[in-house]
Amino acid sequence: MKTRAAILRDVHQPFEIVELDLDEPKAGEVLIRFTAAGLCHSDEHLRHGDIVPRFPIVGGHEGAGVIEAVGPGVTRLQPGDHVICSFLPVCGHCRWCSTGHSNLCDQGATILDGCLPDGTYRFHSDGEDLGGMCMLGTFSERAVISENSAIKVDSDLPLEKVVLIGCGVPTGWGSSVHAAATEPGDTIAIYGIGGIGINSVQGAALAGARNVVAIDPLPNKREAAEQLGATHSCETAEEAHDLIQQLTNGVGADKAIITVGVVDSAVVSNAVGTIRKGGTVVITGLADPTKTNIELNSAMLTLFEKTVKGSLFGSGDPFHDIPKMVELYQAGDLKLDELITKTYTLDEVNEGYQDMLDGKNVRGVILLEH
Ligand SMILES: NC(=O)c1ccc[n+]([C@@H]2O[C@H](COP(=O)([O-])OP(=O)(O)OC[C@H]3O[C@@H](n4cnc5c(N)ncnc54)[C@H](O)[C@@H]3O)[C@@H](O)[C@H]2O)c1
Ligand SMILES: [Zn+2]
Ligand SMILES: [Zn+2]
Repeated sequence: MKTRAAILRDVHQPFEIVELDLDEPKAGEVLIRFTAAGLCHSDEHLRHGDIVPRFPIVGGHEGAGVIEAVGPGVTRLQPGDHVICSFLPVCGHCRWCSTGHSNLCDQGATILDGCLPDGTYRFHSDGEDLGGMCMLGTFSERAVISENSAIKVDSDLPLEKVVLIGCGVPTGWGSSVHAAATEPGDTIAIYGIGGIGINSVQGAALAGARNVVAIDPLPNKREAAEQLGATHSCETAEEAHDLIQQLTNGVGADKAIITVGVVDSAVVSNAVGTIRKGGTVVITGLADPTKTNIELNSAMLTLFEKTVKGSLFGSGDPFHDIPKMVELYQAGDLKLDELITKTYTLDEVNEGYQDMLDGKNVRGVILLEH
C-alpha cells in the first residue's frame, strides 16, 4: 500500500511530503487511517536538532484516526474502531507497566528510532526503512502501529478535537495533577503556554488551585490561559515572582511547572526561586538530551527541601488517562475546541510549524484528507 507522509531526512531540513510504501500489519499491529495530527513542539525538536532521532523519520506523534485492518493476534481492536494514539506504547507487563508507571514502559525505548516493538519498520522508500516519530508517524495518511499505542474511543467523538488527547492534554494536565500533585488551595506557576502548558493550566484549575499563574512573553498565550483557568498571567518570570510573593504573603508558589519550548537554566532557576519551602518544580519541556543545561544551587534544595523532578506523559498511565480526559471533555470540564488555533493540510506542515515558532498557535492541527 502507498501513503503520503511528511518526513524529516536530517536536522535543519524542512518536512518533505513524499509517497511511501506501507506494509501490512504484523502480529500485534494495526493499520490506522489518520484523520488528524497535532503540531507538538517535540517534532520541531527533531527538525531543529535539539533532539536527534534516527533519520529518515515520519513526523508526528499526536494522532487520532480509524482502524482499517488488524494483524494476527490483535483482540482489543477491530476495523472501524476510532482511536486516539498514545505517544508512548504500553506493553502492560514490564516492570513499569506492572507497577502503575506505564508512561515509563520499556517499549518506549525506541520512540526516537520509530521502529515497531519487534524492532522492524513498516514505512519504506526505495528499499530504505523509515521509522515513525514515537513509533507512530501521525503526519501520514496511514500508518501501521502497535496495538499498544492505540486507545479505542467512542465513534461519535470529533477526532479532529480529541486528537490533542494523544500528547498535549495528558502531558500538560498530568504535569499539574499527577506530577505536581496540585491540591485545592495551591498556588501554581506555569512557565510557557503552548499546547502543553495550556493543559497544565486546565489541570491545575480542575484540581482546585486557588492561584494559577501563567507565564508567557506572548500576549495571545496569556489571554488563552486566562480564558482556560489561569487566575493571573505574567509576561516575565520576574513579574510572576513578585506577584506570587504578594499572593502568598511571601511564602512562594506550592508548585511550578515548566512547559516552555526549549528548557534552559534561567527558567529552571526562576522556578526553583519562586516555589516555597518543600515545594516542587516539574520539568515537562524538553531540551537537548546530550547537553548539561541547568545549574542549581544545592544548598537551596537542601535547606528549603525543594524538589525538582521530570515528568513524561504527565506521569500518568495512557490507557487510564486518555479515556478519562475524553470523559472530562464530554462533560465540558476540559476544553479542547478552544485550544486549536488553526488547522492545516498535510502539505502545510512546515507553515504550521512556522506559525508555532512565531507564537501564533496555542495548538495547530493537521487535518488529513482522504
Ligand atoms: N515531557 C513530555 O512528556 C512532553 C510531551 C510533549 C511535549 N513536551 C515538550 O514540552 C515543551 C512544550 O511543547 P509545546 O508543544 O507546548 O510548545 P510550544 O512551542 O507550543 O509552546 C511553548 C511556549 O513557551 C513559551 N516560552 C518560551 N520560552 C519561555 C520562557 N522562558 N518563559 C515563559 N514562556 C516561554 C512560548 O512563548 C510558547 O508559548 C516542548 O519542549 C515539548 O517538546 C514534553
Ligand atoms: Zn508531543
Ligand atoms: Zn511496559
